Amino acid sequence: MAKDFDGKVAFVTGGASGIGGAVVRQLAARGAKVVVADLKLDAAQKAVDAVKAAGGEASAVAVDVGKIDQVEKAVQFTLDTYGALNVAVNNAGIGGAAAPLADYTFEDWHKVIDINLNSVFYSMKYEIAAMQKAGGGAIVNMASILGSVAFPNSPAYIAAKHGVVGMTKSAALDYAKQGIRVTAVGPGFIDTPLLAALPKEAYDGLTAMHPVGRLGAADEVAALTLFLLSDVASNITGSYHLVDGGFTAQ
Ligand code: NAI
Repeated sequence: MAKDFDGKVAFVTGGASGIGGAVVRQLAARGAKVVVADLKLDAAQKAVDAVKAAGGEASAVAVDVGKIDQVEKAVQFTLDTYGALNVAVNNAGIGGAAAPLADYTFEDWHKVIDINLNSVFYSMKYEIAAMQKAGGGAIVNMASILGSVAFPNSPAYIAAKHGVVGMTKSAALDYAKQGIRVTAVGPGFIDTPLLAALPKEAYDGLTAMHPVGRLGAADEVAALTLFLLSDVASNITGSYHLVDGGFTAQ
């Protein structure tokens, strides 16, 4: 395994589970010191223990990414623990309630927008300030195929993920000359705990919607994410990259 992230400090939100968990494992295996920032501190600590058991370095911090002060503290924890911030993955997110727009409650709307969209603004605000001190860096924002196409009964999720793609482009332009690259990843439906709650028919229906005939794996999303974070992607910024088994080609 190449140690191309040796000496780099990484911050991953929602790093305790699913896609974030795979990103944490791959970053640590390739030499990064990783902060696992998650709402669930116990689960984050388990992810850290697994990294350490495999010979890597990681630390856990509790954060609700929808709360400005908690995001600021989590990024500061990274600086206090490892002395810098070089790469960040803004991945924490929720599916949210399922209902057509006129039936969507204000409470459900605000919850999804806070956790899936406002969080990315809060996180980038503090991450970019830290990366400026480090002389550059790379950020990947976890969007979705629903950052470019829609799906029934998910108005807040779709608005949030389209917003993440737009915010990615905006930040990329603002910081391109300072050596901070910002990209977005658009996974198709991925077999993670986020989908575990679905009834079997819904799960099978989603699978059938992917031309490859299966859901994606968290490790496949992580592989693209690490490519974008790595120095190999040095001329890539402001762009949105799909890993969707052909979903949006249809
Ligand atoms: P997951 O449910 O397996 O993991 C999400 C993690 O985020 C959990 O560890 C959870 O504790 C944490 N989290 C939730 N709310 C949080 C908050 N307020 N503050 C901090 N941490 C919080 O989900 P999965 O599937 O790994 O999703 C990760 C990202 O990928 C999300 O942004 C999701 O929207 C996106 N995504 C997922 C797809 C899928 O089919 N699973 C498809 C496309 C995008």
